[in-house]
Amino acid sequence: MLLLLWLCSDAQLQQGFSANGAPEPPSLTRTTLNVFDQDKDGSVTLKEAQATLDALGAFASMGAEPGKGQNEMEKMLKQAKKWMPQLFKLLDADSSGALQELEVEWVEKGLEAAKTNVFRNLTRDIFEMLDSDADHSLSSGEVEAAMEPEMLQQLVAIVHDTFPLPGLTAVNGKEAPAFVRENLKDIVAALDGNNDGAIERKEAGAAVGAFKRTYIKAAETLKTMGPMLGMFGGGMPMGAGRGGPRGSGGRGSRGTARNER
Ligand SMILES: *[C@@H]1O[C@H](CO)[C@@H](O)[C@H](O)[C@H]1NC(C)=O
Repeated sequence: MLLLLWLCSDAQLQQGFSANGAPEPPSLTRTTLNVFDQDKDGSVTLKEAQATLDALGAFASMGAEPGKGQNEMEKMLKQAKKWMPQLFKLLDADSSGALQELEVEWVEKGLEAAKTNVFRNLTRDIFEMLDSDADHSLSSGEVEAAMEPEMLQQLVAIVHDTFPLPGLTAVNGKEAPAFVRENLKDIVAALDGNNDGAIERKEAGAAVGAFKRTYIKAAETLKTMGPMLGMFGGGMPMGAGRGGPRGSGGRGSRGTARNER
């Protein structure tokens, strides 16, 4: 049975490689699970996620021209690996250490949001709230203040209003648990590009922009290459037909595998 499934996935793989007329891609959620859930237990642990990115990185570097440095795919994977722990925490609503399908669905919702101004607006709104002296920079003092229970709750409410991430949802109406504070601290640290303890408005904008671009690219690549990438998780790229294609992402299609080898 397993062999049969594997052969099926292999057939689809061949199809995916053909010049055009690729089959309808499965939903991004399905694909994400297929690719990252290595032990096929229905959820993705951070360890599985990182291991998958490593495997993909090794794959991406195959056939690289010597002396040309990292290719675009490798760079993207490196970025993805850097952001993964934070992203993981934000999605892991129940702090179980593993993402279930419902939590994985946020990968797709995030992609839709990333294509709008959500992240930029969020950065603006958070700045307006925290930058009490309005100097377009969050001093370490202002960041500290943001971690005080009352401010933290307001901060989470702002994020939650635009983007009800599972890792923040738990707080709704209640006092922010420690893990939300830790999640936010991680994010704040990531926004402080030059690590000087203060966050300039521009610096934050650049970090958010970089995250957004990587996110869109990674998610679109996953979507496009999904049927093939499923192999890395030992998975079978089935379950197509849910949702169907939605707005072909122009940028991501550049990540499509080529068949000349
Ligand atoms: C972002 O903010 C602008 C200006 O307030 C608004 O017009 C736009 O609809 C917002 N975008 C999203 C996705 O919320």
